[in-house]
Amino acid sequence: MLLGLKYPVIQAPMGRGFTPSSLVIAVSNLGALGSFGGAFTPAEDLRKSIREIRAKTQGPFNINLFTEHFKKGPFETAHFAREVKRSASSLSCELGNVPHVPSYEEQLQVVLEEKVPVFSFTFGMPQREWVRDLKKHKTFVIGSATHLEEVRALEDLGVDAIVCQGKEAGGHRGTFLGNPQDALVPTFTFLKEAKRITRLPLISAGGIMDRSDVQKALKEGAAAVQMGTAFLTCAESGTPQLHRKALLEWRDRKAVLTSAFSGKLARAIENQFIRDMAPFAKDVPPFPATVFLLDPMKKAAAETNNGEFLPLWAGEHFARCKKLSVKELIESLF
Ligand SMILES: Cc1cc2nc3c(=O)[nH]c(=O)nc-3n(C[C@H](O)[C@H](O)[C@H](O)COP(=O)(O)O)c2cc1C
Repeated sequence: MLLGLKYPVIQAPMGRGFTPSSLVIAVSNLGALGSFGGAFTPAEDLRKSIREIRAKTQGPFNINLFTEHFKKGPFETAHFAREVKRSASSLSCELGNVPHVPSYEEQLQVVLEEKVPVFSFTFGMPQREWVRDLKKHKTFVIGSATHLEEVRALEDLGVDAIVCQGKEAGGHRGTFLGNPQDALVPTFTFLKEAKRITRLPLISAGGIMDRSDVQKALKEGAAAVQMGTAFLTCAESGTPQLHRKALLEWRDRKAVLTSAFSGKLARAIENQFIRDMAPFAKDVPPFPATVFLLDPMKKAAAETNNGEFLPLWAGEHFARCKKLSVKELIESLF
């Protein structure tokens, strides 16, 4: 069994507060793999979280980073600002400021020093030397792919396992080679294709919600599954109330692909902001600047209970989300 887990289930890392240490600890202590989404976390805060998780976990745990060198601004925002103002006129808010975003090398240095059991990454590939050094420290290294060329590149880099992210997945597309719009392979098709070209353990992700999905992935040869959306409505996750409510109640809506909330293609429950911004995709500044530029709008939306202006990240099958504890969810999968 992958990493000696009792359950071949990875709770997906989900950056910006969705996967607090308490969730990671709860998942890992049950015998699945808890993952901390370390994206944008300053290096020393990341160290604190790693130490807290390590102190309270018996099993392995995973630290995840965005291994992409982000474009530095300033960016042209006038057209974007005008359209945001028009769409969110009821919230009367300005664009926010883009803070210093730590480079992944700063964060990775901490991951290396802390000798974490598992490290996973998305949006790019760290340099070969990092992977070599992590493995020297006995860290199990997992890369994320959205198409076969990425599977080959990750294998060549020397990772220990690969997450195969299918098109159904919630949150951002992990594509780092080519256009994300050209890398939308259904989860089980991608798993089967990847299985043909590599002997590395494959972790199937995207739309996996219940026991039958897990069984299917394992039958098709996955070493484990990685589930994000299903964990968003667990009691222990950090999902904001309004987001939970949408996952559980907005079941007549679809989870669609958009770059309006972040500058990078991602799947979220369709709402007014996504619809209004669709014609202006070319005006959206690059990731991750847009994430921060929209913080005041998101804050105003949350304060007024308005889900139409929040990024309600969700996979295609979010309508099968249940209000459960982590224990109930994981045990229901087997
Ligand atoms: C709210 C949210 C945030 C996410 N953040 C990250 C992240 O920080 N790092 C990462 O590797 N994947 C992230 N993902 C993608 C997941 O790793 C995974 O591919 C996806 O959740 C699988 O599809 P599912 O949501 O249908 O289970 C995120 C997904 C969601 C829903």
